[in-house]
Amino acid sequence: MKIDQYTELYGIIGYPVRHSLSPLMHNTAFEAVGINAVYLAFETRDLKAVTEGMKALPIKGMSVTTPHKIRIIDHLDDLHALASQIGSVNTVVNHDGRLIGFNTDASGALRALEGKVRLEDTHSLIVGAGGAARSIAFALKEMGAIVTITNRTASKGKALTKALGCGFVPWEKMDHIEAELIVQTTPLGMAPDINACPIPVSILKPGITVMDIIYNPRCTRLLRLAQSRGCQIIDGVSMFVHQGAEQFRLWTNVDPPLRVMEE
Ligand code: ATR
Repeated sequence: MKIDQYTELYGIIGYPVRHSLSPLMHNTAFEAVGINAVYLAFETRDLKAVTEGMKALPIKGMSVTTPHKIRIIDHLDDLHALASQIGSVNTVVNHDGRLIGFNTDASGALRALEGKVRLEDTHSLIVGAGGAARSIAFALKEMGAIVTITNRTASKGKALTKALGCGFVPWEKMDHIEAELIVQTTPLGMAPDINACPIPVSILKPGITVMDIIYNPRCTRLLRLAQSRGCQIIDGVSMFVHQGAEQFRLWTNVDPPLRVMEE
């Protein structure tokens, strides 16, 4: 890739962010379709400075990851309707100096589940109540699933439950739920702490589906346990690629090279 005076800049903000594979995925995609752009990782907590910097430089687009997906909203000029409904932004587009927030997590999660599990009337347990959980809970509800949320901090879990109109189960009682689909959205099990697993094995019943949105490692301890107990497993790479592909389209108006991005 040749960097010159026309090279455009994109990036990801998060804290921490060094585990992210988004730079590798998006830079490979830019190169594959011949777009003169680079994508960098910015480990930061200062959202005001980030958004001012995006306008000043300008930076054309930004991915937003944990823990900024909800707080970033206060710093944007406008929100796409879906991001506004969900209340979580993972993508910022710099549209001629106006920063617009989008959500591609919801559609990314649905694409990952597509063809693997029926969602209508399916009892679903979402573990975690952050930005990703919010998007996934919203998407599952839209598809007619019966959603229950559990979260380490009960007050945050209950607030999300109220906002979305779904059920809540306390963290230490999640094994009371008979879930046909479990979606794990916390960082527990992510490298380097790969032995962590937030879910008691007693709820991993044969035949249910377990999705972990962690993609590093690709097969988390949770997924290994689930597989050994006869569950269908879906790893985090699929949602990661689909949310990224949609970001790519929003930023460039070019069809994303899906196969290259997945590789
Ligand atoms: P994301 O945007 O990836 O969803 P987030 O908004 O920071 O990230 O949310 C992280 C989620 O993981 C939260 O539900 C958080 O629980 P709390 O509300 O109790 O903070 C959960 N989480 C993070 N670290 C955790 C840990 N060590 N044990 C259990 N849950 C954890």
